[in-house]
Amino acid sequence: MKGIRRMVGIDRLNYYTPRSYLDMHTLAEARGVDPMKYIKGIGQEKMSVIGPHEDIITMAAEAAAPICDDKAAIDLIIFATESGVDYSKAAAIYLQHLLEIPNPVRVIELKQACYALTSGLHLARDFVLSHPGKKALVVSSDVAWYGFETAGEVTQGAGAIAMIVSENPRLAVVNSGTPYTSDVPDFYRPNTHDVPIVDGKFSIECYNTALKQTFTPGGYTYIGFHMPFAKMADKANRILQDDAISDDALLHVKSFSKEIGNIYNGSLYLALLGILTGVGDLTGETIGMFSYGSGSIGEFFTLDIQPNYQDVIEKDAWTTHLSSRQALDMLGYEMAMEHFIKREKETDYHFSLTAPDDATFALKAIDNGHRVYTRL
Ligand code: HMG
Repeated sequence: MKGIRRMVGIDRLNYYTPRSYLDMHTLAEARGVDPMKYIKGIGQEKMSVIGPHEDIITMAAEAAAPICDDKAAIDLIIFATESGVDYSKAAAIYLQHLLEIPNPVRVIELKQACYALTSGLHLARDFVLSHPGKKALVVSSDVAWYGFETAGEVTQGAGAIAMIVSENPRLAVVNSGTPYTSDVPDFYRPNTHDVPIVDGKFSIECYNTALKQTFTPGGYTYIGFHMPFAKMADKANRILQDDAISDDALLHVKSFSKEIGNIYNGSLYLALLGILTGVGDLTGETIGMFSYGSGSIGEFFTLDIQPNYQDVIEKDAWTTHLSSRQALDMLGYEMAMEHFIKREKETDYHFSLTAPDDATFALKAIDNGHRVYTRL
């Protein structure tokens, strides 16, 4: 094979976000804040709120199920999350069971704040390069939760990303990136805490430092930025000065994020969804991608968009999923998050409510700490 460049990358991509959201006007009114702070200052219009029938594994399954059409070829499942449900057992095992992926498969859970999915994508790429013919399922699923009436409350959200990584990918070749790791206390969640300890302003400085250390100029028309909140993309873009992308391109980058909020690991890939959905034809385009995970690591890498990529993306389904969500009032939001936080601490739990008609998976029970799922 010497001399032949093997192309590996994203063959399929999909996302899932819960079916309920909180509008930023509603949150601002309840918190006595000028709504323009949230909408213009933070750049958010809505944030997704997790439903009572779901958790990080059902969200990952909702994202992954539609793209897992060749289950027997999947040799590796990587599950990136910072909202883990077990210190020992990988969420990827529950996912493998729920999706009925055959047992001869490797599974692992990865953690490094919002960066683990990018790490998973690159590890999967290297795995496929060294295991010709094999595929990897790489997912992230997170619930960003800072607590009621905190500065971070407006930067919450929930959702999952799923990617199939293969040789000769139909969507995008993944190129190696430039990493930058630095031990900083900008955002972290020790085992003793339900919510992160965060120094918001400092975290933005750390993000900006990592971007400056890793950015590789390439004349990009589109750059996906990790977006803990949509306005972060504007801030990051300004740092790039002469290499900044246009205001029009930024609108595409932010289009999913401003509707969904922070989904931690998947937030960068919401930018990719926005670009793929909003732009007419990207064939041959090289897209820049900046991943950041607090603590911290940043990595800048690129994707080469493949010919016929439009045959494997689901623009209509992606936008319909967003536009068909239901608005919650403040009480609905508070009850949903209280239910979620309480349930995540339960050792024994039985789901007795009704899941929405269009849900495919539900957390049925927690039995002595072990999770039991059902396909609806
Ligand atoms: P804050 O103190 O509530 O907000 O914190 P602020 O006072 O800085 O205001 C925000 C912006 O709104 C400012 O604009 C204001 O001027 C503007 P900026 O100076 O930034 O351009 N503003 C208004 N605009 C229009 N009309 C008005 C108005 N009022 C004010 N009336 C902060 C904001 C994001 C810090 C907070 O929400 C927070 O701590 N969030 C969580 C941390 C975070 O998201 N950090 C981002 C970088 S770290 C990261 O990305 C990693 C992460 O995803 C975690 C992981 O890796 O796992 C978070």
